[in-house]
Amino acid sequence: QTQIWTVDKNVDNLKTYPQIIEAAQKLKQNEVVAFPTETVYGLGGNAESDEAVLKIFEAKGRPGDNPLIIHIANREQIHSFVKEIPDQAAVLMDAFWPGPLTIILEKKDGALSEKATAGLPTVAVRMPDHPVALALIEASGLPLAAPSANLSGKPSPTTANHVADDLTGRIAGIVNGGATGVGLESTVVDCTGEIPAILRPGGVTKEQLEEVIGQVSVDPALKDSNHAPKSPGMKYRHYAPNAPFYLVDGTREKIQQMVNEKRVEGLKVGVMTTKENKEFYDADIVIACGERAKLETVAEALYDTLRAFNQEDLDIIYGEIFPEHGVGQAIMNRLSKASGLPIIEK
Ligand code: TXA
Ligand code: MG
Repeated sequence: QTQIWTVDKNVDNLKTYPQIIEAAQKLKQNEVVAFPTETVYGLGGNAESDEAVLKIFEAKGRPGDNPLIIHIANREQIHSFVKEIPDQAAVLMDAFWPGPLTIILEKKDGALSEKATAGLPTVAVRMPDHPVALALIEASGLPLAAPSANLSGKPSPTTANHVADDLTGRIAGIVNGGATGVGLESTVVDCTGEIPAILRPGGVTKEQLEEVIGQVSVDPALKDSNHAPKSPGMKYRHYAPNAPFYLVDGTREKIQQMVNEKRVEGLKVGVMTTKENKEFYDADIVIACGERAKLETVAEALYDTLRAFNQEDLDIIYGEIFPEHGVGQAIMNRLSKASGLPIIEK
């Protein structure tokens, strides 16, 4: 029995609403509850409790070596579990919090559940920019460990329905606050070294970070699979549709030709495109994922699109690629993980 609490994210004083108070009560009892953030839905639990954190890993079927992000509602909350805040980290917090930026800092010894941080000496922290998330954290009075609220390996959830599809019967409840905004997870930046390093591209772009703190490096593992990623989660295949999913670097004419060849063989073929090209393609299913001219709309629609392909019994899916600048970097990172196959050059 997974409870659903529906709330209007636009009302004042959300944290005094009975739905939020009930959900916060569950969290205080070390139960786990899904809630919306501006990026994707999170599955929250008391970050100080091994019991709660174990329930998160269990509900998702998540490997125990993949640490969780700790969500806070105000900067004071950090001091109980972080050793120190380097200057560059403080500048990033001023510029991007609340917002889709996760910062890795050194953890205080003995603070938080060791399971939440997978035994690492560091901790990932973020202040989400969503009134429901902030109200829930405040009402519970806890730092909330929260990974994306999907089954491990599936696309992250951008609606309460996505969460319900994956986790009904496995968690105490879902706070339904409507669809999320950004659509892709937060950018993870490691601030424990000299130069801040992007471990996972996301809602805040490299260009935006560099405007604020100058040089930022990118974990080499993001480009080269011979390197072990610094962010444990980045080594797993993710977001995968059921059918083989190929990204194609080529014109729409070339992609259509590939579709035709497969259909002649009797296969059911899907195409992932954008609004601009939707009418052009002829396939068993053609889904427009946002508008290429506005990459934020592609990010917003991405996970819903990947989930939608699973509702059809397809044999193969072809997807268009995107330019790797701005939010395009995060989009291509997630698409490559969803595919798990080399890009076809046409
Ligand atoms: O937007 C988001 O970040 C969403 C919402 C719910 O806030 N959360 C999210 O969590 O995407 P999750 O668990 O799906 O991804 C967390 C990522 C993983 O790749 C994990 O390995 C990395 O952050 N991470 C967590 N703690 C870390 C640490 N101490 N050092 C390096 N990477 C860490
Ligand atoms: Mg995730």
